[in-house]
Amino acid sequence: MAFANVVALLCFLATSIFTVEGEVRRFPDTISFGVATASYQVEGAWNVSDKGENIWDRFTHTTDSIRDRSNGDVACDSYNQHRRDIEMLKELGVDYYRFSISWTRILPDGFSNRLSQDGIAYYNTLINDLLEANITPYVTIYHWDLPQRLQDLGGWANPMMADYYTDFAKVAFEAFGDRVKHWLTFNEPWVICYQGYGMIEKAPALDMSGIADYLCGHSLLKAHAKAYHLYDDVYRPTQNGRIGWTLNTNYHEAASQSPADREAAERAMQFELGWFGHPVFSSEGDYSQILKDRVNQKSSEQGYPRSRLPEFTSEEVAYLKGTCDFFGLNHYSTNFVRMPTMALKSSKVSFDDDLGVEKFVDPAWPGSEADWLKVVPWGFRNLLNWIRNSYNSPEIIVFENGFPDRDDKDDVDRINYYNGYMNALLDAMEDGCNVTAYTAWSLMDNFEWSDGYTQRYGLYHVDFNDPMRTRTPKASAMYYKSILETRTIERD
Ligand SMILES: *[C@@H]1O[C@H](CO)[C@@H](O)[C@H](O)[C@H]1NC(C)=O
Ligand SMILES: *[C@@H]1O[C@H](CO)[C@@H](O)[C@H](O)[C@H]1NC(C)=O
Repeated sequence: MAFANVVALLCFLATSIFTVEGEVRRFPDTISFGVATASYQVEGAWNVSDKGENIWDRFTHTTDSIRDRSNGDVACDSYNQHRRDIEMLKELGVDYYRFSISWTRILPDGFSNRLSQDGIAYYNTLINDLLEANITPYVTIYHWDLPQRLQDLGGWANPMMADYYTDFAKVAFEAFGDRVKHWLTFNEPWVICYQGYGMIEKAPALDMSGIADYLCGHSLLKAHAKAYHLYDDVYRPTQNGRIGWTLNTNYHEAASQSPADREAAERAMQFELGWFGHPVFSSEGDYSQILKDRVNQKSSEQGYPRSRLPEFTSEEVAYLKGTCDFFGLNHYSTNFVRMPTMALKSSKVSFDDDLGVEKFVDPAWPGSEADWLKVVPWGFRNLLNWIRNSYNSPEIIVFENGFPDRDDKDDVDRINYYNGYMNALLDAMEDGCNVTAYTAWSLMDNFEWSDGYTQRYGLYHVDFNDPMRTRTPKASAMYYKSILETRTIERD
C-alpha cells in the first residue's frame, strides 16, 4: 500500500473514530486566507492634499441618509495608521490583504490627465509595506467611491464611463502593477446598480428602479470587460498578474420542491448573481434568457417602445465572455423563494417587479444586527455548488464573508458565524467546488455605508471616539488567527 494510501486510511479511521465533539477538519494546502477593507470605509483623510470629492463624501455631507448621521471623513484613519493595520494583519497571520483604491485620491478630477503624486505615494507605501511584511496585496480598483464630477455626468448610467473607468484602471496598472498581481475591477456590481441607481440605500441614491439600474449594469459590464482586455493585452505579458471581479448574492433556496418554486428560486439567482455572472461566466454569454424575457415582456406590457434592459451586440457578447481569471464571490446570507400564488398586481416599474417572486426567511434562523443577514451556513454550501454547476466548475475565490453586531469585543456570535460558514466552505470543497482563497470581512470595524458606525463587522474593534482610532483584537480575531495558524477548524 502506497504511503499516501496509508495516510488516507489513517485519516479515514481518525475521522470515523472522532465523530464526537471536538473533531478537527483540515483545510487543503491549496487554499489561502485573507481579510478585506475598502477605501471609503477605512481611510478617512477625505480632503487631504489634492484629493477630489467622491459620491460618498457628497452623500454623507449633504443628505441625512446615514443612520447615525456619520461619515467617512476620518473613519479608521487608515490613511495615517496603515502601519498599525499591517501589524494587525501580521498578528492574524493572513496570506493577503484586500483593499481598494480611492479614485479621487489618485485622480482628483476623475480623469487621468491629472494625477495626485501624494495619492499615488500613499498606495505605494501601503503596497511596499505589505510586501515587506510578506503579505500579498489584493487590490479592488473600484469599491463604490466614484468621483462626484463623473456622477454629475450621469455616473454609471453614462456609457462613456467604460472609457473613464478604463483610464483609471490603466493608471493603477501602470503605477502599481509591477508589485500588485491580484486585481479586482469592481466590488459588487449588483449593489452599485440595484441599491445606488434603483433605490436610495447607497450613493448616488437615484431611485429609478427598473431603468437606471439596468443602464448602470450595462455600462459597468462594458467597463469591466474593457479594463480586463487592457490588462490581458498590455500588462499581463510583463506583469503576470490575475484579474477578475467580485459578485455578491444571497443564496435563493426554493421554498418547496414544486416546479413553480424551483423556477422562482432559479429566476432569483439569475436576476441577482446571473445579471453580472451570466455575460461573463456562462458558456453562451450575454444576459440570461430569463432576464431578457422577463424585462422585455414587462416593458412591452407597460407601454415602453423597447425593453428597459439594454441589449448587447453579438460583438459585445463575445467581448464580455470569459473576462475573469476566477469567480470572485461575496456572500453573507440566504432566503427562501416562492412563486407568488396570484400575479403580483403592481403597476410600479421596478427590478423586483420584473423579478416577480416572493422572498422570505425562516424565523428560526439566527439573526444579526442587519435585518437582512440571517445565519444560514448550508446556503453558502448550496451557493458554491450552484456556481460550480452553472458556470462549469470555475476556480472560486471568496472575497467577503462576515457578520455584523452592534459593538461587542467578546463576539461569540461572530465566532459561531465563521465556524458555521467555514465548515460549509469545507463541505462545498468536498463536494468538488474549487475554492482557492477565503476572505473575512472585515479586518476591523469601519464605516458601514448607510448604517454608519451602528453595525460592526471587524475582527478588530475600533474606538471611533478616540482620536487615535485605537484598534483592539476581538475574540473573533483570536479565533480566525488560530484557524490560519493550524489550517484546521472544529467540525460544527
Ligand atoms: C477637511 O475636513 C475637515 C472636516 O472633516 C475640516 O475640519 C477641515 O477644515 C478640512 N480641511 C481642509 C483643508 O479643507
Ligand atoms: C482549481 O483552480 C486552480 C487555479 O485555477 C487550478 O490550478 C486547479 O487545477 C483547479 N483544481 C481543480 C481540481 O480543478
